[in-house]
Amino acid sequence: MSSKIPVSVLAATGSVGQRFISLLDNHPWFEVVEITASDKSVGKPYEEVCHWLLSESMPEYVKKMELLPTEAASLKNSKIAFSALPAEIAVEVEPTIAKKGIYVSSNASSYRKNPLVPILVPEVNPDHMMILEDQQKSYGWSGGIFTNPNCTTVGFVVPLATIDRKFGVKKAFAFSMQAVSGAGYPGVASMDILDNVVPYIGGEEEKLEYEPTKIMGCFKDHKIENHPIVISAHTNRVPVIDAHTICLSFSTNEKTDVDSIINALESYEFPDLCKDLPSIPSKGIVYHREPNRPQPRLDRSTYGGMATHVGRVRPDHILDFRMVSVSHNTIRGAAGGSIVNGECLAAWKFGKR
Ligand SMILES: NC(=O)c1ccc[n+]([C@@H]2O[C@H](COP(=O)([O-])OP(=O)(O)OC[C@H]3O[C@@H](n4cnc5c(N)ncnc54)[C@H](OP(=O)(O)O)[C@@H]3O)[C@@H](O)[C@H]2O)c1
Repeated sequence: MSSKIPVSVLAATGSVGQRFISLLDNHPWFEVVEITASDKSVGKPYEEVCHWLLSESMPEYVKKMELLPTEAASLKNSKIAFSALPAEIAVEVEPTIAKKGIYVSSNASSYRKNPLVPILVPEVNPDHMMILEDQQKSYGWSGGIFTNPNCTTVGFVVPLATIDRKFGVKKAFAFSMQAVSGAGYPGVASMDILDNVVPYIGGEEEKLEYEPTKIMGCFKDHKIENHPIVISAHTNRVPVIDAHTICLSFSTNEKTDVDSIINALESYEFPDLCKDLPSIPSKGIVYHREPNRPQPRLDRSTYGGMATHVGRVRPDHILDFRMVSVSHNTIRGAAGGSIVNGECLAAWKFGKR
């Protein structure tokens, strides 16, 4: 019998769901035993209904698996549910699954503002996972919900939090160039995005301005105390398939210089709580010294798509410094990030490591 933890993928047929299916193929700790989708796909084998988008082949294990209805009753064996549900469905379904005793590692934005639900970025705040015990007490659940951040937030919060730990950061200005895969499939119509830039992504700027305050906050006395940083964001959709690019200007509390900032980024080390997890890449932050890097096409897939690529740290004439970061939105920003969060939980609650 397998000693792997049985898991499910909710909304397994979408852009993020497919990444889960691919990344969980031969995962050393997890085995996918249940998959769900919308009513139109229920009862059918995965390979029949899934319009596969990834360059790697559809894994054998999933081809004949039957898609189940997206409800708690479908999950008879799972201990962790990886959720790629649209937010409006997640808001109803995820708590019923947590109540049933299953841990939900969610990509949806529905509960990110709930003070008892952590937005986890293991490179930054793996200790926030501990609030799950307070969540369970408050809601009477034996499972729980933890989320990853928006796929653009994660692209700059890792370097920003690293700089904050050394010098303190008080203000930041973020300008994003976001890939089309961030809008799911089929996403933005080709006639709207080719040869074009769309300077609006509904609800996105508010997420970039709020989520880092929670992620960079302290977990103390059973509460996450948000960080006082103030962020202003402009978000844009650009004709790139995968990986979001963020230009970030920021001011520091402590006076410092460009070399010290680069040094802090280059010497980044994972917190002990997540050091040896299976999906943690060998480098969390990759600093590029070439003047024209990082770039989405060249950098997104290295380190398994799980690293944050940073470059061009230089002085800023309005705030103190500026830099560029790139991160893979459906891997680090979605399925890969949720799987690492699940690994953090498995190390803590299921004795894995
Ligand atoms: N794309 C990204 O870069 C990214 C990054 C971070 C977070 N997210 C978040 O991840 C979630 C999924 O995004 P996505 O890009 O994968 O979207 P997507 O490609 O549009 O896929 C949507 C998925 O949801 C399922 N679904 C739709 N309506 C449903 C319903 N009523 N009940 C159950 N399942 C339903 C679909 O199943 P059928 O195939 O059966 O219709 C499909 O599997 C969203 O919450 C999104 O905000 C996305």
